[in-house]
Amino acid sequence: MSFKERVFSGVQPTGNLHLGNYLGAIVKFVELQNQYDCIYCVVDLHAITVWQDPKELPRATREVTAAFLACGIDPGKNIVFNQSQVAEHAELAWVFNCVARLGWLNRMTQFKEKASKDRENASVGLYAYPNLMAADILVYRATHVPVGEDQKQHVELARDIAQKFNNDYADSIAAHGFGEKFFPLPEPLIQGPATRVMSLRDGTKKMSKSDPSDYTRINLTDDADAIAQKIRKAKTDPEPLPSEAAGLEKRPEADNLVGIYAALAGSPRGQVLQEFGGAQFSTFKTALVDLAVARLAPINSELKRLTQDPLYIDSVLSDGANRARAIAAETMSAVKDIVGLVRAKPH
Ligand code: TRP
Repeated sequence: MSFKERVFSGVQPTGNLHLGNYLGAIVKFVELQNQYDCIYCVVDLHAITVWQDPKELPRATREVTAAFLACGIDPGKNIVFNQSQVAEHAELAWVFNCVARLGWLNRMTQFKEKASKDRENASVGLYAYPNLMAADILVYRATHVPVGEDQKQHVELARDIAQKFNNDYADSIAAHGFGEKFFPLPEPLIQGPATRVMSLRDGTKKMSKSDPSDYTRINLTDDADAIAQKIRKAKTDPEPLPSEAAGLEKRPEADNLVGIYAALAGSPRGQVLQEFGGAQFSTFKTALVDLAVARLAPINSELKRLTQDPLYIDSVLSDGANRARAIAAETMSAVKDIVGLVRAKPH
């Protein structure tokens, strides 16, 4: 059986969105909407796998939503909503808790990293996080999942869960008229290394919302002055820019700035180096400031406008949730029939 092509991805409402999220994920989301039916979800249930301040979480949820829209995601053409409004995510996640094996979750590197120091004290939710993520994707029977490299293992787990569900319930799936497979095996759409954005202060560390220094990142909420200042203060080395990519080896900060320029310009690194090879960083940074401001300032002002209109944002989320729920409820009814859970049927 072939499945309708559908894109699903999620972003956690924790902390501010920055250039790394934008170039690494949201730009891709915007592109994909021309090719696919897309569902973009603010995953608030994933956020609370580590404690979130209840006074902050709604603001963060609305801000990620506003950022989606400000970056060009069309909430009419696509579905944009927050996860907790569609109960079927959590419901299917329970079924998946019973499909996924402990051994599979024990291999998840993100859990090991996040919980390493104090494993006994990590929430059960943090451990089961990948099962909820599988439910996010599969409750819409999505086929394509744009994610960063760090989430690839979780999408592979979603494939394993889909496959085991299809196998474990093969007879029932067929008996209920769903053919051979009920769930598609979702494919990760991985962002290339060109869009891996590193800290402006240390080219070996990922740009992160949790770094204590705000000078390590460009936030989508930064205005033109802040963007300019952060780029001018970004760490570099004393050499001029090379004219070929090989010259960026062992120069992580230079490599990062060239990568950011290339991603913002939408051109290959080689072309950027052809243009700036031999130039001093002062010259290159001036060009980078101009480009970054040209690309990000309109997003920044739209984001500001939208964050001042929470009622509009909430209406986008509830409209998106209604449309998402219609799809999710259909999947969940089928899953109940397949698994053998008695449900009320409409007359
Ligand atoms: N785990 C993802 C992250 O932290 C967010 C996420 C949750 C997600 N559910 C998803 C991504 C489903 C893709 C598909 O980045």
